[in-house]
Amino acid sequence: MPVDVLVGLQWGDEGKGKIVDVLAPTYDAVARFQGGPNAGHTLYFDGVKHVLHQVPSGIFHSHIINVVGNGVVLDPVVFRQELQKLTDRGIDWAKNLYISRKAQLILPSHRALDRISEEARGGGKIGSTLKGIGPTYQDKIGRTGLRVGDVLLPDFQERYQEAVDRHATLAAFHNRELEIESLEADFFSAVDFLRALQLVDTEYLLNDLLQQGKSILAEGAQGSMLDIDFGTYPFVTSSSTIVAGACTGLGIAPRHIDKVYGISKAYCTRVGSGPFPTELHDAVGEQIRAAGREFGATTGRPRRCGWIDLPALRYSIMLNGVTEIHLMKADVLDEFDEIQVCTHYRAADGTETDQLPDYAALQTMVPVYKAMPGWRTSLQEITDPEKLPKELLTYVEFLEEHLNVPIRIVSVGPDRVSTLHRA
Ligand code: IMP
Repeated sequence: MPVDVLVGLQWGDEGKGKIVDVLAPTYDAVARFQGGPNAGHTLYFDGVKHVLHQVPSGIFHSHIINVVGNGVVLDPVVFRQELQKLTDRGIDWAKNLYISRKAQLILPSHRALDRISEEARGGGKIGSTLKGIGPTYQDKIGRTGLRVGDVLLPDFQERYQEAVDRHATLAAFHNRELEIESLEADFFSAVDFLRALQLVDTEYLLNDLLQQGKSILAEGAQGSMLDIDFGTYPFVTSSSTIVAGACTGLGIAPRHIDKVYGISKAYCTRVGSGPFPTELHDAVGEQIRAAGREFGATTGRPRRCGWIDLPALRYSIMLNGVTEIHLMKADVLDEFDEIQVCTHYRAADGTETDQLPDYAALQTMVPVYKAMPGWRTSLQEITDPEKLPKELLTYVEFLEEHLNVPIRIVSVGPDRVSTLHRA
């Protein structure tokens, strides 16, 4: 059986958590392959909101194996809090959760360095979630990181201290101190908690599952436009958020990958700094933010809002080999007379492109829009795709035609039941 991969096509927050939850019951395993507590996957069911940061979204189903892969950066303190919340809600997660021994550990000093380096950037801030993601991946690539499996070594404490001493010299470079003493007791008790979990070589676990004919859903975090290589660098996260990251982040060979689900909102948002060509700075942007409750699931920050961007989507589709699109939060556009779609970009000299320009070129280009009529009706109660208003269907078909990929799901509300499957 294959591995199917689910990725965000925009700048994150596309609604991946909801879709994984909808798709998960049809898989034997759900695996996270990159990112860490910077992610916030929101799921609603039975009237309750659940936000997962590091735990795979299959955790609510007792038959699903959930894997935190080697490509993930794991904060034991946040992880323990998340699992405690699940316990409080009566979810029995212990036997179905496996963590890669090769995943990197986020230390309190990584979080401190994230803050210190963001402050040092002055006006050029990335807008990081300050969860320690960048510094932890820096240590991984610099071959100085601590991995989850290291917590089982007798000299873990010394390795930890060496890392902290190194981080202190980096902080000193900015004339700062780490100031993590008050966080260390909690960190070490979370490490004790971690030691008692199923820490394994998840690449073997996953490949054994494939050999047994089981199916795996790889759950991406963030979005393709935040990818370390292909995103709007340097305003990106520090991992491979595209499908290729699922291979390195889980130890799965590319030939096992079959479907690629690309998740996009019916509009576009971004949180943090960096280019966002279709951003709206006016009342329309405010209206989208209010209707979509566009505030970060991890940081609570207001998200920047704008219209859907086809050149950016086409770029993400190309990088990921998307086989089907899931269009999220269509109901957020219920009140609009007109919906704009950015079809291409125009330079000052009048030349046009339907490709996503690079960062430098973007400064001099403007998005060109096609206006489409809104549906001006509430989608919330609709459960049959045949009953969608004709203006929405025209919008969906226009996107399909210009993206050349079928839109298989249209989501019209946060609950599981508001997920309409199209033939
Ligand atoms: P970092 O991953 O915390 O270093 O943040 C780098 C950039 O990615 C910032 O602009 C963040 O706002 C953005 N980012 C990180 N994680 C997410 C996410 O899960 N959703 C949306 N944006 C994110």
